[in-house]
Amino acid sequence: ALVVRHRIRSAGRWAKAMAILQELEDKCGTSIGKLRQVADAMTVEMHAGLASEGGSKLKMIISYVDNLPTGDERGSFYALDLGGTNFRVLRVLLGGKDKRVVKQEFEEVSIPPDLMIGTSDALFDFIAEALKKFVDTEEEDFHLSHGRQRELGFTFSFPVKQTSIASGTLVKWTKGFSIEDAVGQDIVAELTKSLERVGLDMRVAALVNDTIGTLAGGRYDNPDVIAAVILGTGTNAAYVERAHAIPKWQGLLPKSGEMVINMEWGNFRSSHLPLTEYDQAMDVESLNPGEQIFEKIISGMYLGEILRRVLCRMADEAAFFGDTVPPKLKIPFILRTPHMSAMHHDTSSDLKVVGSKLKDILEISNTSLKTRKVIVELCEIISIRGARLAAAGILGILKKLGRDTVKEGEKQSSVIALDGGLYEHYSKFSNALESTLKDTSRLRIRSNGSSSRNGVINSLRSYGAMDQLCTGFCE
Ligand code: GLC
Repeated sequence: ALVVRHRIRSAGRWAKAMAILQELEDKCGTSIGKLRQVADAMTVEMHAGLASEGGSKLKMIISYVDNLPTGDERGSFYALDLGGTNFRVLRVLLGGKDKRVVKQEFEEVSIPPDLMIGTSDALFDFIAEALKKFVDTEEEDFHLSHGRQRELGFTFSFPVKQTSIASGTLVKWTKGFSIEDAVGQDIVAELTKSLERVGLDMRVAALVNDTIGTLAGGRYDNPDVIAAVILGTGTNAAYVERAHAIPKWQGLLPKSGEMVINMEWGNFRSSHLPLTEYDQAMDVESLNPGEQIFEKIISGMYLGEILRRVLCRMADEAAFFGDTVPPKLKIPFILRTPHMSAMHHDTSSDLKVVGSKLKDILEISNTSLKTRKVIVELCEIISIRGARLAAAGILGILKKLGRDTVKEGEKQSSVIALDGGLYEHYSKFSNALESTLKDTSRLRIRSNGSSSRNGVINSLRSYGAMDQLCTGFCE
């Protein structure tokens, strides 16, 4: 009788777990119809954000970048890239049209977590120190124009209301940063103060968002690049807009007639987004409730956390891991997206990677194959929803630019530069993004694969491994 009772109970638990799985799958649905609605809503919000300041959840920030590199740039440049868990300092020597990138060096430093929630001075002093150390390792041949002040490009990947190409005030923090006294401050002034404090003589020549750096880097290699998307800790996009299509722009029309816009699409939100109770709870408990909703269902900072929340509910309501909820599973953000990706890509027949991740990170051992399979399914549901929504966002941009269809016989090619750890390392995510773009647009999509590139705009910037997605007519 005991055995029978046990079997019945475990059958009941399993049924409950399956119900939770099914419910998640239903709630995360991204039919083509839904994606089109999301894309259309994105286009609508883009118009609204360009029309007036504060006109939309999409800030559509004017970057003051009205010219993108051509590949002919020459000179030596320093850059600083701050925006995720790491920050990078780099220098690059550009040799012009034929020589291109003559030399490049970079260093990556991880940011101590306490600095992400401390004071502005502490963060910028730390950065300035690291930059100073890096500059001290500069070789003779690098700084060609001796005696001239070194110039620095600062890629700062948070929403900044630009006031010029080299100044701007921080609107708010995202992605787990929360340094109250920096909000509303001019980021370049903050950095400059720290540079002075550590005795480093450098002038910040440009302040850009990572999306802008990626766009510039993409354009350096390929003149057809029209937009850039970051899929990393956070997510965002930038694109080249016609200046006269920006009603809120009060300044002179730039010579090029163009202006790069930092959309800050992470803050996009629409009733068409497929949201679940897990997303809602995560948002409420986050550092920035009610904000960055698109980002919270797409980007690397959050996917693993959503998975953890689903597993928690399964553990609690369906005794998915036995009679008690494993204590480690209750720790927010313990399950990172790279762990999730490793489990999702497990090709072994007994899903041993899933088993070892559960053991190493959550201290859950002896899971059955059946259980592991369910976990892989959860990874699939959560990541594919994100990838498909990112594709819908890209479609929204293409629509805004009238580049979502190509007429018969026309040769128009639009290239999107993509960067960020999520896109780079989570291949099921990037594959789903690309195939979704194929399915939702009538465009031919080609992916140029990953390679190391340099981003440079008028005088500098961001370095990264960048992919390019080519839509339209590609030979
Ligand atoms: C967040 C930031 C945004 C950045 C993106 C990707 O969304 O607000 O500025 O571009 O992350 O790093």
